Amino acid sequence: MSGAPFRVAPLDSVHDRSNFNCGTLPLDRYLREQVTQDTRRRAAACFVALTDTQRVAGYYTLASACVPIIDLPPETAKKLPRYPAVPAVRMGRLAVDQDFKGQGLGAALLADALDRAARSEVAAFVLMVDAKGDEAAAFYRHHGFIALPESPLTLFLPLATVR
Ligand SMILES: CC(C)(COP(=O)(O)OP(=O)(O)OC[C@H]1O[C@@H](n2cnc3c(N)ncnc32)[C@H](O)[C@@H]1OP(=O)(O)O)[C@@H](O)C(=O)NCCC(=O)NCCS
Repeated sequence: MSGAPFRVAPLDSVHDRSNFNCGTLPLDRYLREQVTQDTRRRAAACFVALTDTQRVAGYYTLASACVPIIDLPPETAKKLPRYPAVPAVRMGRLAVDQDFKGQGLGAALLADALDRAARSEVAAFVLMVDAKGDEAAAFYRHHGFIALPESPLTLFLPLATVR
């Protein structure tokens, strides 16, 4: 994120996440209390946007996943090999502290996650996201994500389009 007042890095114990407040309690609690257990066990990776004082202004998590082809819209599925499922990267959580909302940080973190997933040597067909509600789903749709037909709070973006 050159030129921005934030730096994106893997979460580290020196980062100050004690007062993180995005307005959605489960997302705040997760960052404050649970994320390090998940990262230690390699159940998720966590990346944070940091201010120059090492305060966490936003974060997202990534983990490997797979999506059954039958869950994808037919126009997407028909372009795929006839496997029962395709590999994915799942962004389980994305949140921006209320002090930093509306400055493009959410979009920058999303772009960072897409770039990381698209650059990985481990292939994935899509980045999947789990929206916590309709407003979050609207944020992802605004950025070109497509909802699964039977599960509108799960959305995806093909990574080939990102590259
Ligand atoms: C959703 C969230 C991450 C957005 O972060 P943000 O830093 O305020 O958003 P940005 O400033 O980067 O917005 C970027 C663009 O998305 C748009 N946008 C932001 N929130 C939106 C929403 N809910 N619906 C549609 N568009 C939205 C902005 O208008 C902006 O559009 P533009 O680039 O065309 O001008 C943040 O509001 C948040 O943390 N919410 C609570 C937690 C949450 O819902 N997380 C997501 C699902 S887990």
